[in-house]
Amino acid sequence: MKEQLQALEQEALAKVEAASTLQELQDVRVAYLGKKGPITEVLRGMGKLSAEERPVIGELANTVRGNIANAIDEKKAGIEAEQLEKQLAEEQIDVTLPGRPVAVGGPHLLTSIVEEIEDLFIGLGFEIKEGPEVETDYYNFEALNLPKGHPARDMQDSFYITEELLLRTHTSPVQARTMNALEDKRPVKMICPGKVYRRDTDDATHSHQFTQIEGLYVDKNVRMSDLKGVLDRFAKQMFGEDREIRLRPSFFPFTEPSVEMDISCKVCNGKGCSVCKGTGWIEILGAGMVHPRVLEMAGYDPKEYSGFAFGMGPERIAMLKYGVDDIRHFYTNDLRFLKQYHQA
Ligand code: DAH
Repeated sequence: MKEQLQALEQEALAKVEAASTLQELQDVRVAYLGKKGPITEVLRGMGKLSAEERPVIGELANTVRGNIANAIDEKKAGIEAEQLEKQLAEEQIDVTLPGRPVAVGGPHLLTSIVEEIEDLFIGLGFEIKEGPEVETDYYNFEALNLPKGHPARDMQDSFYITEELLLRTHTSPVQARTMNALEDKRPVKMICPGKVYRRDTDDATHSHQFTQIEGLYVDKNVRMSDLKGVLDRFAKQMFGEDREIRLRPSFFPFTEPSVEMDISCKVCNGKGCSVCKGTGWIEILGAGMVHPRVLEMAGYDPKEYSGFAFGMGPERIAMLKYGVDDIRHFYTNDLRFLKQYHQA
């Protein structure tokens, strides 16, 4: 019986050793240590043994049981540790792998241009002002010396909301609004960027909605030479220090005298090319000395105060500066166009 038990022990230990999965181990445990296993079987036959043999065999049987159980537990711990190792290795995260890039937006070209112009004028001591896009007929026209029925109103086909309300056709009403709002009638030095609306059919150079930047400087003794100096600085800073400006006589009801400003063509340097249509000059903006009637209507005494004003289109400036050939590119939101102007 002793040999039988020892043989069983060897056999069981060999199977434990050979087991490679938890299931196989469990099968060995059931086969050798279970109620129907061979060791239980041996113990059952102990009744036939002599009184001296019984405790010896009993002890041996228990030792064999214990050895097999220990071997199974040890093997089990080994298999579990191995499985954990394997799982950890499989699930390892490679932190050195580069991440997927996140798409980052940037300012629209028009926003950049407007901000650039704002910075420039802030540097010259101008404040930034705003006004409503839904404007009254009074501020859009009348306060700018364009009374009802004035033929100059034909210059701007407007989107009317009621007889007295419309989408502003220019940022010039902010001139009158700013001056009107100042109780003490102190000097004004401001620019106003914003959206404006006209009943134009959209094409490469027209848009029913576009942006403008208005400028106004009112003080004692403001002269045309001040206007020229500010515009010259603006042109050189925006388009290059070697640009020249020229002022041509023009007409706007809210300025007298009125001018249009050209800059020398940077493509041909003034010689004449297709960009400047052979003239050597490119029209940039309208300007002039604030009409005395406009000052008066806003509560400023034109004998004491004078001023200059100007109005420009950031789209046109961006088109010239970056060679954009169609104003519609600013509004159709084609990322291929917009991305070209994102600075990192
Ligand atoms: N408001 C004019 C326009 O939309 C532009 C303009 C011209 C504004 C002369 C001015 C100015 O302030 O002095 O065509």
